[in-house]
Amino acid sequence: MNTNLSFSAPSQVETDCLVAVVLDRSEKDLGEKDKPAPSLESSDAAVRDAAKDVIASGEVTGKMFETTLLHRPAGLKAKRLLLLGGGKAKTFSAAELHKLAGAAVRTLKSKSIRSFAFALPGNGVAAAIDVNDGVRAIVEGAFVGNFDPEYYKSDRKDQKMDVITIVAKGDQKSLETAMQAGRIVGESQNFTRDLVNEPSNHMTPTMLGERAKKMAAEVGLQCEVHGADKLKELKMGAFWGVAQGSDEPPTLIVLRYEPEGAAKDVHLGLVGKGITFDTGGISIKPADGMEKMKYDMAGGATMIGVMRAIALLKPKVKVTAIICATENMPSGKAQKPGDVQIAMSGKSIEIINTDAEGRLVLADGLCYARQLGCTHLVDAATLTGAVVVALGYVNAGIFASDDQMYDRFANANKRAGEKMWRLPLDDEYKEIIKSNIADIVNSGGRWGGAISAAMFLKEFAEDTPWIHLDIAGTAWMEESKPWIAKGPSGIALRSLVEFVKGWSA
Ligand code: BES
Ligand code: MN
Ligand code: ZN
Repeated sequence: MNTNLSFSAPSQVETDCLVAVVLDRSEKDLGEKDKPAPSLESSDAAVRDAAKDVIASGEVTGKMFETTLLHRPAGLKAKRLLLLGGGKAKTFSAAELHKLAGAAVRTLKSKSIRSFAFALPGNGVAAAIDVNDGVRAIVEGAFVGNFDPEYYKSDRKDQKMDVITIVAKGDQKSLETAMQAGRIVGESQNFTRDLVNEPSNHMTPTMLGERAKKMAAEVGLQCEVHGADKLKELKMGAFWGVAQGSDEPPTLIVLRYEPEGAAKDVHLGLVGKGITFDTGGISIKPADGMEKMKYDMAGGATMIGVMRAIALLKPKVKVTAIICATENMPSGKAQKPGDVQIAMSGKSIEIINTDAEGRLVLADGLCYARQLGCTHLVDAATLTGAVVVALGYVNAGIFASDDQMYDRFANANKRAGEKMWRLPLDDEYKEIIKSNIADIVNSGGRWGGAISAAMFLKEFAEDTPWIHLDIAGTAWMEESKPWIAKGPSGIALRSLVEFVKGWSA
């Protein structure tokens, strides 16, 4: 998708469709009898005029994602005018703009419109949004809305938007930088979604490594893809315990970003769960819904996408990503419940349930990141069904061993506009992962399952400040939303990119 900026008045922009935002300026929560106060948010009187009658008719309320399409709008050079509801003016922010841009793309491309112009809301409330943030949010959201997961349909219609023009006022150079940043992040999120969308026969650990390598060469990152020999050399007994059951060789993917002028005392480590298919192993999962376990590498794919964005945005901070990729399969070679594995750190692990495999591969990934000198660790993983019980499909779970690091992450998360919620890591929960024969068990059972999984990981982050993101409920969307297709969501990428940027020297 091409992106342009236009500094013309919105009414003077020649386009297949001009998109303008309508907000509800009524202050209170509306009851049955109250009327919304829809307002077209443009400083261009010609645009307000073109929409005047339809707004006066009462058909337009400004409700979030409401669409009203006018043809040949009087006084405008655009062929069409799309009025897009953005909800309450009071709470309107860049996060809403991001979603509206995605909704505009999805609405218009379904009508075979291939280019459009989005007018940045220009007066009153929306002035609270910094123009650069606004442009970036629109471009990001437009790319996210342009992704379509129907890869293998033989009659696949390539419904893609070709051109978005953003109509704004401001300093050209900084708006162009904002537009470029929006493109980088939106495209990186789609890069991650593409990896997650592929079925496991098209995304083996080897193929994931190849995709990481190809991307790294394109954006100028260092990338190493190691095989089983390296796992054995590093004594990654927990990771290998999972990998040993599969005929597909595992890969340990390492991506390095080391810019000049980076702060000397910070080295961020991003560790991703890359289970390209999770059958559960010998503790096999029920057949119902098992096909979804192709997305069990979403955490790893997220870290690969984050590294892509970082390589292009160039913050001044050293970052290393480690992705532990393998299938989790039952076979004559597979590990069995009761087996004891010795992790890279030397800790012994009693395997209670071979379906608790994510924490095993991450245990060695975290340990390796520490060995490489990382001073702060973040992992992302589709780790537990229990996090879905706790937070549903709405929020991802955040766990943090260090409050200062959490504050930084929470800030980044807020800027990115992604939904996440912190869950606890009290010492009392450690009881649940005690073993009779080894240092710890890999499964603490049902109660507090997301927490005991996080407590397990904490054993391997040790005293290094660490954040764990459990994205099991949010990495895959069962239903599409106005701004995003169903399928892989790319959750956490934007928060992580913001987080990394926050450490730039
Ligand atoms: N990959 C699953 C978690 C998962 C569940 C991801 C639903 C996405 C959607 C993970 O490996 C797993 O199987 N976890 C077990 C752990 C249990 C055996 C302690 C679970 O959550 O049931
Ligand atoms: Mn599992
Ligand atoms: Zn899993």
